[in-house]
Amino acid sequence: MEPDQVISSGAPIINVADVNYSLEIASGKLQILRNVSLQVEPAEVVAIVGPSGSGKTSLLMLLAGLEQATSGQVIVNGEDLTGMSEDELARFRRNTLGIVFQSFHLIPSLSTLDNVGLALEIASPELSLSEVHKLATQALASVGLESRLDHRPTALSGGEQQRVGLARAMVANPPLLLADEPTGNLDQKTGELVIELLFDLARKRGTSVVLVTHDPALAARADRVVTMTAGELSETLDAH
Ligand SMILES: Nc1ncnc2c1ncn2[C@@H]1O[C@H](COP(=O)(O)OP(=O)(O)O)[C@@H](O)[C@H]1O
Ligand SMILES: [Mg+2]
Repeated sequence: MEPDQVISSGAPIINVADVNYSLEIASGKLQILRNVSLQVEPAEVVAIVGPSGSGKTSLLMLLAGLEQATSGQVIVNGEDLTGMSEDELARFRRNTLGIVFQSFHLIPSLSTLDNVGLALEIASPELSLSEVHKLATQALASVGLESRLDHRPTALSGGEQQRVGLARAMVANPPLLLADEPTGNLDQKTGELVIELLFDLARKRGTSVVLVTHDPALAARADRVVTMTAGELSETLDAH
C-alpha cells in the first residue's frame, strides 16, 4: 500500500492524542511528555517552540517512530505507530518521512549527489541508477546547488550543507517533513534562507511540516505555532 493513498481528504496527517512519554532512569520515572495532543492537516506547516529540555525533540522522535509513547495514540499518515514492529516502523519512515536535523548528518565520503541519491535509493529501491541520478540532481537544483553535485560535504558552507540535508529529506517527495532546529547551527541570515527554501519546497509540493525552532521570527512564518512547556503542548496565541 502506498502511504499517500492512505490520506483521505480531510483526515489529519498527524493525530497525536493524549500522549504520555516517560523513561525509567536511575532515580525513578522521568516524565518527558504529559497528555500531549496535536493534529496537523495535510500541507499544514506547524512550528513548535519552547525552552530547551521541554520535550520538543522527544515529540519529533515519537512522530518519526524512533521512540514509542508510554500511553496515548500516535497516528501518522493513517498509520498507528503505537505497537508497530521495528520492521514496520522502518517501512513507515521510508515511505512517509523526510527528516532534517540541526547537525546536518551528511556522509562525509560521499558527494552531494550521492548523499541525496542514497536517500532516494533507500526510499525507492525500484528506481534505476539513472533515475536516481536524475531525481537527485533535480532535488539539488531545487535548493540551488546544481553546481555542487560533485562536492564533498566538507567543501560546502554550513548553509549549503543544510540545503543538501533539505534536498535529501525531500528527494523522495514524502508527505511529511520533520525538522529539528534545522537552522540551529547557522547564522541568522543563512538560517532564514534555508527556512525560506524549506517552506517554499513544502508549499509547492503540499508537504506537511513539523518544525522545531528557537527563532520566533521563523516560527511566525508557519501556519500555526504551538509551544512546549515542561512536556505540555499548548496552542500559541498570536502575539501580534
Ligand atoms: N534518552 C533520554 N534519557 C534521559 N533523559 C532524556 C532522554 N531523552 C530526553 N531526555 C530528557 O527529556 C527532556 C526533554 O528532552 P528533549 O525532548 O530533547 O527537549 P528539547 O528538544 O525541547 O530540548 C530533557 O529533560 C531531557 O534531558
Ligand atoms: Mg531538541
